[in-house]
Amino acid sequence: MDKPSPTCACGMSRRKFLAATSSAALLFALGGLRGAAWAAPFELPPLPWAENALEPVISAKTIGFHYGKHHKGYLDNLNKLVAGTEFEGMPLEKVVAATAGKADKVAVFNNAAQTWNHTFYWNSLSPKGGGTPPAGLKQKITDSFGDMDTCLKELSAAAVGRFASGWAWLVSDGGALKVINTMNADTPLTLGLTPLLTIDVWEHAYYLDYQNRRADYVKAVLEKLVNWEFAAKNLG
Ligand code: FE2
Repeated sequence: MDKPSPTCACGMSRRKFLAATSSAALLFALGGLRGAAWAAPFELPPLPWAENALEPVISAKTIGFHYGKHHKGYLDNLNKLVAGTEFEGMPLEKVVAATAGKADKVAVFNNAAQTWNHTFYWNSLSPKGGGTPPAGLKQKITDSFGDMDTCLKELSAAAVGRFASGWAWLVSDGGALKVINTMNADTPLTLGLTPLLTIDVWEHAYYLDYQNRRADYVKAVLEKLVNWEFAAKNLG
């Protein structure tokens, strides 16, 4: 079932926004940018695994294009867009926050959010993923969804049902876990939510391997690649 798409930070309170941007999740996610500049010019963070490490679920060819062309493309565009502006020198997540919902900053927001979302996505996948979450996260999932199977079904429905391009997310909303999906570059960072893990459902994430069979890609990711350890660390 397709869920309503959160689209912007309009109307979010300053308190809620500050809570989101200072969350442990953000700090951990920024850890994924080790070796990269935190402010413009931004650098492409290294993948947390070899390009062929996710085979056969996601091919090296898909990762090569996705990381080397798409992710890098967003980052290169962002660096061009922020050069000489008030966003130069700002940490990436602050660029996302400062441009969310602003009609005259859509290009900066889209490229900044897509840069951040992709780094978060790489860390949401692991060659040793799938299986059972760590005990603390599993308990939170049980408390919030009733059982693990319901959580997985909601994640699958959010990913498969996201019309056109976007993302499926497991998030914490003040400690309660939820599944949402977002459209295009939109991200839980601007919604006062703490992202725990994500699945990219833009066609470029799966089309070379699965063509139009998005459901097969999502099923394989949830069964074999989803990085519950990363999600547990983001939970704090
Ligand atoms: Fe992508």
